[in-house]
Amino acid sequence: MLFDFAELPARERYKLLVSTVTPRPIAWVVSQDRRGILNAAPFSFFNAFSGDPPIVGVGIGSHVPPEPKDTRANIRETGEFVVNLVSEDVAQAMNITAIEFDRSVSELDKAGLTTLPSVRVKPPRIAQSPVSLECRLIQIVDLGPNDGLVLGQVLAMHIRDDAVIDPARNYIDTPKLKLIGRMHGTSWYVRTTDLFEMPRISLKKWNEEWPAQAVARKDGREKS
Ligand SMILES: Cc1cc2nc3c(=O)[nH]c(=O)nc-3n(C[C@H](O)[C@H](O)[C@H](O)COP(=O)(O)O)c2cc1C
Repeated sequence: MLFDFAELPARERYKLLVSTVTPRPIAWVVSQDRRGILNAAPFSFFNAFSGDPPIVGVGIGSHVPPEPKDTRANIRETGEFVVNLVSEDVAQAMNITAIEFDRSVSELDKAGLTTLPSVRVKPPRIAQSPVSLECRLIQIVDLGPNDGLVLGQVLAMHIRDDAVIDPARNYIDTPKLKLIGRMHGTSWYVRTTDLFEMPRISLKKWNEEWPAQAVARKDGREKS
C-alpha cells in the first residue's frame, strides 16, 4: 500500500515512520543547563553515523513548539552531553525519566538513579547504565520548526567491566549488555537476545562459490 507523505498530516507521517523504522537504539541523554541543573531523558531518534570522527546523532523535538525540549536547549547552551545506553534492568527507570516534569525537577532523582563523574565533559553519566558516551556538540541541524538533529563527537566511552572481554583489543561482549531498543507505538520495546550470524561475503568468495550455488538452487526448484 502506498502512503503519500504529501497528503498526510505530521502525526500520521510520524506514526508510519516509528512503526517501521525499528528497532531503534535509545540515547538516554544527560545534559546540564548553564547553572548546572541536571536533566535526563530518552530519545530513540538516535544512532551512530560515523566512526572517524566518531559521531552520534539524536533527533530532539519540542514540548510546546517551537520551544525545544530541555535536552536540546541544554546542549545548545553548554555544548556537552552524555549518551547512556539502556539495558533491560534499567528500562523502567528510563521510562520514568521520559515523564515531562518541570524543568526544575531532576528526572534522575525521581527514577532513583545515581550519577558518576565524566572525565571529558561536565555532565555526569548514569551509574546504572552499562555504556556511556561522553559527547561534545558538533552541530545542531534544524529540521523544521519543531525538531533538531543534535550531532555530537564521542570523546570517551565507559563500558561496564564485566562486558569487556579484552581491553587491549577492545573486544566487547555485546549480548551481555542486554541493551533494549524501541519498537512501534509509544510502549513497545525489543530485547537484543534473538541473534543470528551472517558472515560478510568477499568478492573473491562470491566469484568462486556463489554462481555454483545459484545454479544448484535453481536446479532444486526446477526438480520440485
Ligand atoms: C523510549 C523513548 C524514546 C523517545 N524518543 C524521543 C525522540 O527521539 N525525540 C523526542 O523529541 N522525544 C522522544 N521521547 C520523549 C522524550 O523523552 C520526552 O519528551 C522527555 O520529557 C524530554 O525531556 P526533556 O524536556 O528533559 O529533554 C522519547 C521517549 C521515550 C520513552
